[in-house]
Amino acid sequence: MVQFKVNGKLLKTDKNCTLMFFLREDLRLTSVKDGCSEGSCGSCTVIIDGRAVKACTKKLSRLDGCSITTVEGLSKREKDVYSYTFRKAGAVQCGFCTPGMVMSGKALIDRNSDPSKSDIAEAIKGNICRCTGYKKIIEALLSAAEFLRENKEIPSENYTGFLDSGYPRTDADIKTLGKGIYTDDMFLEGMTYGSAVRSKYPRARILNIDITDALSHPDCAGILTADDIPGKNKTGHIVKDWDVLISEGDITRYAGDAVVLAVSRRKETLDEIKKLVKIRYEELPPMTSPSDSLKEGAPSIHEKGNILSVETLKRGDDVEEVFKKSAHLVRKQYHTPFTDHAFMETECAVAVPEGDGVAVYTGSQSIYDEKREIAQVLGIDPEKVRCISNLVGGAFGGKEDMSVQHHAALISYVLKVPVKVRLTRQESLLVHPKRHAMDIDITVSCDEKGRLTAMKAEIISDTGAYASLGGPVLQRACTHAAGPYNYQNISIRGTAVYTNNPPAGAFRGFGVPQSNFAMESTLNLLAEKAGISPFDIRYINAVKPGDVLPNGQFADDSTALAECLDIVRDEYYRCKKMRNKSVGIACALKNSGLGVGVPDTGRCRITVKDGRLNIYTSAARVGQGLDTVIMQIACETLKISPGLIIL
Ligand code: FES
Repeated sequence: MVQFKVNGKLLKTDKNCTLMFFLREDLRLTSVKDGCSEGSCGSCTVIIDGRAVKACTKKLSRLDGCSITTVEGLSKREKDVYSYTFRKAGAVQCGFCTPGMVMSGKALIDRNSDPSKSDIAEAIKGNICRCTGYKKIIEALLSAAEFLRENKEIPSENYTGFLDSGYPRTDADIKTLGKGIYTDDMFLEGMTYGSAVRSKYPRARILNIDITDALSHPDCAGILTADDIPGKNKTGHIVKDWDVLISEGDITRYAGDAVVLAVSRRKETLDEIKKLVKIRYEELPPMTSPSDSLKEGAPSIHEKGNILSVETLKRGDDVEEVFKKSAHLVRKQYHTPFTDHAFMETECAVAVPEGDGVAVYTGSQSIYDEKREIAQVLGIDPEKVRCISNLVGGAFGGKEDMSVQHHAALISYVLKVPVKVRLTRQESLLVHPKRHAMDIDITVSCDEKGRLTAMKAEIISDTGAYASLGGPVLQRACTHAAGPYNYQNISIRGTAVYTNNPPAGAFRGFGVPQSNFAMESTLNLLAEKAGISPFDIRYINAVKPGDVLPNGQFADDSTALAECLDIVRDEYYRCKKMRNKSVGIACALKNSGLGVGVPDTGRCRITVKDGRLNIYTSAARVGQGLDTVIMQIACETLKISPGLIIL
């Protein structure tokens, strides 16, 4: 038995879980966020006897006599100050890291009321923020120290909500004080806990699944296999090729494949139950690169073969002929790796039986895709599936696909229980789609003055085990590969190839960073050959209003690449002259919105109730400030005050 104080209250326990588990699961102090459970991210930072400590690293048995403070235990004055300064500094985006930042900052400010920027940087060095960057967080903590030190009054605020009124983020306060609800912060009466038993090998035939021992565990609430799926065993926003669960007799496609869903009545025993599931495999050699998958006689990962999609773009004259006549030419091969989004909140869904359907609370990017796909998996009318979007602790494209939502819905629908399915950090890294790794073979030519004449590229993208959004990602990689320059002869071919690697899909930039990197790197080499500077080769070729891009798109009056280069020219050359300073320059273009000529529309539903405007939107609050922008649009358009709006 140990005893310690939490937020001033004396508690006794004979449990020996981690402090984070105890604070979240037993005391429901959900400002303490679980980002990794491994002492790496700092989202669970609390103060123990004056020191900032990651709560996931401490066992309760080590805390006898200690005094622990979470954001919930701050004084009213502190809560007012930290939420004001974080809001004013714009230091909150998805907000998942924010309570941990506050606690690391408070531990410092309590012992040093006048910290420097570097003191603060040192104090928060164990807290990772994936969205905001650290500058604004340091500003917020500097300002908080000043308010507390000088006992400054918090200015009264009154905003019109109009676009020029400095209207602050509407969600900053709840996120700073840990009151914002992310899906893992939900606790429901009778809630069970579900998790997938995943394939031991990236490619293996499932010979046999034995769930007898798992079912006999006293906490087991059920075990589901592919045979329990009432509807379709496939998901996918565009190409439906991703198995919900791999069936006995089928072959796995990557190490993240789910084979069995285990459900426990207690979170603590879920892993024990999973370990009791016995799966026999016939291990098969995996194809871990596109060249493996494209080899003659390579086994097919999907029924249709190993090629997901092919894109071809050709404009202007025959590039081989233009190359021959060009003064300079560079051919280069590049490889860009898989990259993970590394959002701070791992994937989580809570599903609850509702009538003869299911309600699913999620922290992902698109509830209507989820509604449609869950209905297909359950074999029911989409109107019987209600998806509710909670706050999202960062996404960056990595929460577009189904990861836990369909599993939670399936468990809840089949077993008629509320359930939470959440990925551990390791599972999250393994399961969700990455930025596509690409192999790019590129040739670019120019005339004697550095004017671009032609470009050819062969792009192979590794789309991993499943399509995800690999088709459109490859398309954007190809349509943007020639860069924002004014020349007309291109030949680009892209191929998206299935492998037994984790799937690749949406990630900020959506395929463009990879091909852009190849083009811009090659441009530097071409400039060297032509005897001009990297700056000049871009300036000479910069696309201007009225020009046509190599991909055939007209550059409209908003095109201002040359003006942009004009602005950075002096700084670029000034820095180039400085010793020990590396200076680079690159240009890029990117579709804003969906692109490919599709008009972007957005809709909200608005009703008037009791003299107030109720706005309904399905767009996900991934940290981009959606609530704030919608409030501003409504205030500006209707010329009403924010107090009259409920979002
Ligand atoms: Fe810091 Fe999102 S605001 S991780």
